[in-house]
Amino acid sequence: MSDTHSDALVFFGITGDLAYKKIFPALHSMVRRGTLKIPVIGVARDDFTLDQLKARARASINEHGGGVDPVAIKALDELLHYVKGEYSDAKTFEALHTALDGANRPAYYLAIPPLLFGSVVEHLSKSDCADGARVIVEKPFGHDLRSAQELNRILLNAFPEPDIFRIDHYLGKRPVHNMIYFRFANTMLESFWNRTHVDSVQITMAENFGVQGRGAFYDQTGTIRDVMQNHLFQVLANLAMEPPVRTDSESLRDEKVKVLRAIPPLKPQDVVRGQFEGYLKEPGVAPTSQIETFAAFRLEINNWRWQGVPFFIRAGKSLPVTCTELVVRLRTPPGVFPQRSSAANHVRFRISPDTTVAIGLTVMDENETGAGQGAELQVSRHPGPNEMDAYERVLGDALNGDRALFAREDYVEEAWRIVDPILMQNALPAPIQYRAGTWGVTSEAVTPPGGWVDPVVD
Ligand code: BG6
Repeated sequence: MSDTHSDALVFFGITGDLAYKKIFPALHSMVRRGTLKIPVIGVARDDFTLDQLKARARASINEHGGGVDPVAIKALDELLHYVKGEYSDAKTFEALHTALDGANRPAYYLAIPPLLFGSVVEHLSKSDCADGARVIVEKPFGHDLRSAQELNRILLNAFPEPDIFRIDHYLGKRPVHNMIYFRFANTMLESFWNRTHVDSVQITMAENFGVQGRGAFYDQTGTIRDVMQNHLFQVLANLAMEPPVRTDSESLRDEKVKVLRAIPPLKPQDVVRGQFEGYLKEPGVAPTSQIETFAAFRLEINNWRWQGVPFFIRAGKSLPVTCTELVVRLRTPPGVFPQRSSAANHVRFRISPDTTVAIGLTVMDENETGAGQGAELQVSRHPGPNEMDAYERVLGDALNGDRALFAREDYVEEAWRIVDPILMQNALPAPIQYRAGTWGVTSEAVTPPGGWVDPVVD
């Protein structure tokens, strides 16, 4: 049954921020592409009429979805329904049951605070709405290992694992998924993609903006929980995983979780945290907050392929550019040319704002002194106008029951296991202040050999 298409999408939290910024534009785009033809039932506590909800959808699509297509918006209007009610009130679920109108494979999207999951899931079960259904949950999936286990317990009480779709929208980004294609559709890479040839790996996720009005959320979350434990670990897993035996979702997810299993829990000395100056004045942020807006880790993957290769990951807000990039540095060749001054070979993947694959080489310098100079072979492309947004992709896949782009129970728990020790209260010193527009902070232990490569964006 898991491969049948859902016959209704129920969106808890449809009047919220995520729906406004991401979901309405994704739904509009799906309707335009002809991939969404099922009823979309919004549920929320707000006193909205259906017309007000439609107006909000239009405003959202105009602001965040590149403008309304008159044919698509009309079709979307016809799919939209609204159920108003408290998430803890049985009557809400009776009304939902009626609105579902006999749908037998609905998908419930929980874009609500995780604290409310328990109550919603329990009511879905009691009102016979959970049978045959799928559930889609937003990140962050829990706050630490214990809370993630508790969330999994709640969900698994009502839904079997194959029907649970834990969203990490980074997986819906085409270049992130295409890393797997690039790695395993080419023989060349495999010959040096291991501890014999790789010296170090670094991943940077930089954003040149601050918390953008999300201070209250961010101050409970911080960079490690917001993007490192989820988005960047997914990128790391794609970079480091073994070839899957098949391309079905479980074969892929099996290999990813194996990467995380090989990573020991982080130690305080392998982490450095920063906070941009001015963060404490952001609305919603506690005046003495010690939440990080930047973090960098050094970690190890203790398996046959990677043992001994240090992996460095950093992410932060208010950095000089917005860019996510990976650099795999190879070992320096033996000294046939002792005067050689340029850096070792590397492979660079850029995930955003453009997709780039580059191979860094040393060529003879212009004056032929033998010192050499760095050169890159590069393939680059910018996303096309009709490219699917990450949310459109993950929503479409969840409705189709394709699990490849979603985090499995064992994966999320492994990811929390790695960061859990450093998330404990007082496990780490207070974050170091950095000036907005600079590259955050670093320490000797979290500086890759040869240094961080700061992405340059044109
Ligand atoms: C979200 C984080 O999950 O990802 C944000 O909560 C972050 O803080 C965002 O800015 C980055 O995603 P994207 O798709 O905008 O690169």
